[in-house]
Amino acid sequence: MNSQWSDVISIRDFTRAQIDEVLELSSRMERESESRRLESKVLGLMFFEPSTRTRLSFASAMMKLGGQVLEFGDPDHTSLSKGETLSDTIRVVSGYCDIMAIRHPWEGAARLASEVSRVPVINAGDGSNQHPTQTFLDLFTMQRLHGSLDGLTVGYLGDLKYSRTVHSLAVAMCNYDCMQHFVAPSSLRAPQHLRSELDECGTPYEEHEDPAEVLPELDILYCTRIQEERFPESMEYEKVKGVYRTDLEMLEEAGVKDSFRVMHPLPRVDELSTDVDDSQYAAYFEQARNGLPVRQALLCALLGEI
Ligand code: CP
Repeated sequence: MNSQWSDVISIRDFTRAQIDEVLELSSRMERESESRRLESKVLGLMFFEPSTRTRLSFASAMMKLGGQVLEFGDPDHTSLSKGETLSDTIRVVSGYCDIMAIRHPWEGAARLASEVSRVPVINAGDGSNQHPTQTFLDLFTMQRLHGSLDGLTVGYLGDLKYSRTVHSLAVAMCNYDCMQHFVAPSSLRAPQHLRSELDECGTPYEEHEDPAEVLPELDILYCTRIQEERFPESMEYEKVKGVYRTDLEMLEEAGVKDSFRVMHPLPRVDELSTDVDDSQYAAYFEQARNGLPVRQALLCALLGEI
């Protein structure tokens, strides 16, 4: 691997060649499931927001590679509660580990962490901004499902305003020859800065409010949860709560392709019916499993153990 990157903060920091290298290394990790490459290395997990998949798949990835995990735990039980700054906390914890993954509600928190940390920093989600490791596993999953990322037509459905997974993935897809459809109510449409970025890249996209307009064309439907916790006013959430619900009947009535698949970063609430789970369309649990080899690949690459 020839990559020069030393942190994983934004998918924008990666060229197509570098993304492809990570995907290839992820496949290798899957084949070489038993390895002690990261023996004696310590991963610091600093999560300031809830997480199941990202936190546990990072921990599992490190342990399967022979490394150890240092959990920051509940921020209320740390010296942050005494008024220590995030910057000082990161600087100090970076002296106790070889690499760290941080999730924080502030956009830019991971970038700040990378500026003061002595060790590589991985952004495990910063507010509504970026979730680059999710993007790598999303790309890995899409490549697995369809053979190539070029030529895909992808639809994003739901909360496109606050979804960091969509913001990261849509930018990554600019590297490939694809068509993107953004389906959301007007109050949750993809942000202007994202649309401007896609315009600058010259990548084609369209916006819609009704998923039926695009379902028959799609290779991938990427569903998202309406992110209640990010709404400044609960009244605004109430207006869009439950606005879309993807279920098997809707997919069959729309006449989706045989090769069509549904992805979702999870967790889901009510926007994706469990009746899709056992159908040929469901790819979201496989997607979550792919977090393991992808995060193993990122840990190995950042620690120079490939
Ligand atoms: N997809 C994702 O980031 O899930 P978690 O919030 O459970 O980590």
